[in-house]
Amino acid sequence: MESNIYDNIVSKISSILKKQDIQEIREIADQILIHVESLPDDSELKYIREDVLKIRESLSQERAVHYARIALKSLSGPKRGKINDMDMNRWREYEDIITDSLWIIKRRDRSGAHNANYWGNFIPQIPYQMINRYTKKNEWVLDTFAGSGTTLIECRRNGRNGIGIDISPDAVETSEKNIENEENRFNVKTKVIRGNSIKIDYKRIMEENGIEKFQLAILHPPYWDIIKFSDDTEDLSNMPSTKEFLRSMRILGEKVYDVLEDGRMAVLVIGDKYSGGEWIPLGFLTMNELMASGFNLKSIVVKNYDLTRGKSNQEELWRYRALMGNFYVFKHEYIFIMEKKKGRRYKKTEKE
Ligand SMILES: C[S@@+](CC[C@H](N)C(=O)[O-])C[C@H]1O[C@@H](n2cnc3c(N)ncnc32)[C@H](O)[C@@H]1O
Repeated sequence: MESNIYDNIVSKISSILKKQDIQEIREIADQILIHVESLPDDSELKYIREDVLKIRESLSQERAVHYARIALKSLSGPKRGKINDMDMNRWREYEDIITDSLWIIKRRDRSGAHNANYWGNFIPQIPYQMINRYTKKNEWVLDTFAGSGTTLIECRRNGRNGIGIDISPDAVETSEKNIENEENRFNVKTKVIRGNSIKIDYKRIMEENGIEKFQLAILHPPYWDIIKFSDDTEDLSNMPSTKEFLRSMRILGEKVYDVLEDGRMAVLVIGDKYSGGEWIPLGFLTMNELMASGFNLKSIVVKNYDLTRGKSNQEELWRYRALMGNFYVFKHEYIFIMEKKKGRRYKKTEKE
């Protein structure tokens, strides 16, 4: 019965393409709307109502024909993105997916298992955007600095499998608790492993979990020593110098490159820092290391940066210091989107 209605709708919309008279087009659109209304509420075809309304409300024949073409395209079946589940025939509907490179996000998503208790966590909107844009359902996401489990909570919520690694036993315990608070509606696997992501045996993790390759990697390292996460000497927040921090990130970049599927993304989330009266462009320096490990740069997003807990009641003091010291107060961080292009690995030598 539904397939009859489908054929009927397609043939009626197709007939609009040949009409010259807008009044006649409106009458056809009304007939289609009657068909659409007769569909059960859970019918997959219901969405076409919006497209038909656009035809009905068009002021000119040209406009109506334009919308008729769009409707026919979307009825021809989903046109899935190569590395996501979005239907490109219905791209207008993904209003929540950001495509601009400047993100001003006013409020952290605190729904479900998300909370802001872990000092140094990122807002859930970051992994939400990356997971939905760059993976399909049931694919595998790697988070090399799991922290409080924000990425893995988003994995559960969006039906992706996830492996998180963190060097701190406290972080592992916290993230496991947080993740368990999120309902596993899609029955995906999410696992947090304690370890140093620079040294850990990825091959073994992948074998143990039946993972051939990861389809997305999210790297949210400490911004070197801005927040000290633990006393562990292998913790990146305890690296003795920027050089050592960057060296570790380069090694990590190479490891992640090897475990990522071709054509997929590694996402680096990082901010800059001040040291000795100088702005250290940690974001760009780390980006360079990842590019040197083989990745191509796909995009740079600049995102507003909320005051950390330590700074929140000191806003005025920071303003005073900035005016006195001729510097600017950090209000942004970066999201670098790096692509693993097939056969494009380029490793710099130490001399370079
Ligand atoms: C910026 S936080 C990540 C926060 C996380 N995105 C979240 O939303 O909770 C960085 C994390 O990296 C961890 N870490 C530092 N050095 C590490 C290393 N060598 N290997 C694995 N984890 C490390 C820290 O314990 C900390 O939890």
